[in-house]
Amino acid sequence: MEIKKSEFIISAVKPAQYPTDNRVEYAFVGRSNVGKSSLINTITNRRKLVKVSGTPGKTRLINFFLINDSFYFVDLPGYGYAKVSKTEQAKWGKMMEDYLVRRPQLQKVALLVDCRRKPTKDDLLMYGWIKHFGYEVVIVATKKDKLNRAELVKNNKLIRETLELDSSEEIINISSLKKIGVKDLLGNMFNDSSEGDPSISNGNPIL
Ligand code: GTP
Ligand code: MG
Repeated sequence: MEIKKSEFIISAVKPAQYPTDNRVEYAFVGRSNVGKSSLINTITNRRKLVKVSGTPGKTRLINFFLINDSFYFVDLPGYGYAKVSKTEQAKWGKMMEDYLVRRPQLQKVALLVDCRRKPTKDDLLMYGWIKHFGYEVVIVATKKDKLNRAELVKNNKLIRETLELDSSEEIINISSLKKIGVKDLLGNMFNDSSEGDPSISNGNPIL
């Protein structure tokens, strides 16, 4: 999969604003500050397609990006940011639920976790939620540049154990900063050997 073109389409707060052209989607979820927006910028080779910030809670809306004129990347708002009010949290929950409850064109969800940290309760809930709704999931450990190899192996084990991944589930280690692991991730997301066209849904109802 080679990404040749990417464009921002819309920041949505409610389903009426989602794209309606039924193109397939690939979503990115995870804690605030874990690196979702940075990853989308890195994958698309665009430094500023998505806003990135040192301040957690940057992405508060559901952002849709059209890739290669054929499918969408969806940047979902992060969770677990302590300084968010109850009202904001409730808004987040409603927004995520509205999106995840019924999105048959959603092919795969990348759940991002920080490679240095043990997945949190929120990560576990999110992982459970994705599976409950019947979507395929890939675990992405971010900020690989922050650890040496031994630490990475140790922490990957911790991530695997905490999320109770089975042996067939891969952890993709990436660094958006150093542009490491992008090919692995694309290979996983698009099941590359991909001669296939990701814009064509496999036709299986997801829910
Ligand atoms: P929210 O929008 O708040 O949900 O955050 P996000 O998950 O979109 O995170 P974002 O991409 O905005 O990155 C948060 C911070 O992590 C920024 O300061 C990034 O520069 C930094 N960051 C992201 N990816 C990497 C990486 O691969 N390595 C390092 N060292 N820092 C990174
Ligand atoms: Mg973001």
